[in-house]
Amino acid sequence: MDILKDKHILIGITGSIAAYRIPDLIRLLQGQGAEVKVILTKGAQAFITPLTFAALTRNQVYTDIFEFYPEHPVIHLDLGAWADAFVIAPASANILAKLAQGIADDLLTSTVLGCKKPVLICPAMNTNMYFNAAVQANIARLREFGMDVMTPAQGKLACGVEGAGRLPDVQGILEKIEAILLPQDLAGYKMLVTAGPTQEPIDPVRFISNRSSGKMGLAIACAACQRGAEVTLISGPTHLKPPYGVNFIPVTTAEEMKNAILKSFPQMDAVIMAAAVADFKPAYVPHKIKKSEQITLSMQKTDDILSLLGQQKQHQLLVGFAAETQNLIKEACKKIRQKNLDMIVANNVMQPGAGFEVSTNQVTIIYRNGVREQWPLMTKKAVAMRLLDRVKELLSRCRMS
Ligand code: PMT
Repeated sequence: MDILKDKHILIGITGSIAAYRIPDLIRLLQGQGAEVKVILTKGAQAFITPLTFAALTRNQVYTDIFEFYPEHPVIHLDLGAWADAFVIAPASANILAKLAQGIADDLLTSTVLGCKKPVLICPAMNTNMYFNAAVQANIARLREFGMDVMTPAQGKLACGVEGAGRLPDVQGILEKIEAILLPQDLAGYKMLVTAGPTQEPIDPVRFISNRSSGKMGLAIACAACQRGAEVTLISGPTHLKPPYGVNFIPVTTAEEMKNAILKSFPQMDAVIMAAAVADFKPAYVPHKIKKSEQITLSMQKTDDILSLLGQQKQHQLLVGFAAETQNLIKEACKKIRQKNLDMIVANNVMQPGAGFEVSTNQVTIIYRNGVREQWPLMTKKAVAMRLLDRVKELLSRCRMS
């Protein structure tokens, strides 16, 4: 699923210290097959130079509306026509104010006014400036105009203050650029996605868990969010950052995951359970077990969360995963019936390139009526996108019936 392959991305950089992070964004975009061109405002050039971006993009960098650029003779209109998406990052308080008023006094502002492509704005500034009533009003107005404005990240700012105002993480900006290029065909749906392993404590310093990295579940949560769904992601411990824009609920144990899921479930249209929830948990010893102690782990079964959802479900669509090492189809079909699911995604976790930890998966989709689709080995991102196509079809059938 190469959303950015051969896409033209125009980046407008304004006067903010966060400009130094844009080369990383450009690298990510190029890694996905996109071509990038850059406009720098006068303010931006106080922080970074055109040469940096010319070297990185292998393209002319545009700075002046009154200069003649032979490849784009009517520069403020041609650049917008060239672009598939226009990203303003970092966007200073000044540019937000100008764009909210329709001011066109330089190349960047004029290009925005003349551009009919999706525009993504990524503000970055001091916390007090960001929460200033005028800035908030300008952001609200830009959203009314149909522009996408990202919420800045929290953290330590260049001025030393801690708070909201940091340029969002470049991976988050990349995900959002992909999102503005995708159809918003899941808008209006509320989806709950689970990911990762659970950890079941043995004593205060040890636990048992499994090899789930969270990649599969996070890919689904990210893709659903990019396509407009309101996504709640409940994930066990992973090293991955939750995708931009999801409502993220971190949990540790199967019990915590169950409680978080049951709380959110009534409001959901669909649940996709990619998490590898522990089937067993050890009896907890409240002190660090000494090497000298005799150790026997006595295990008890955890609640099967999907089965509970299967019993409680009303309008919700339920999609489970089946991680199998033998009799893939037979075991997966058994789980559809036992857990009252609408669909199951079966993966043979012994197969190279499929299942735990890797970035690819090879799955068979099985519907409740027994119809099956065997998909080839694909990236987890591509599996997520195709799975959501099927979920969308089922959801729209539910809405019609
Ligand atoms: O995270 P990755 O490294 O990317 O790996 C992806 C994956 C292999 C974890 C994923 O593709 C996958 O197969 N997830 C389901 C793993 C699993 O727990 O399968 P299962 O066959 O044991 O369980 C069947 C279903 O019941 C699953 O949807 C599971 O979430 C759910 N379940 C299981 C146990 C339990 N106590 N409660 C549950 O709800």
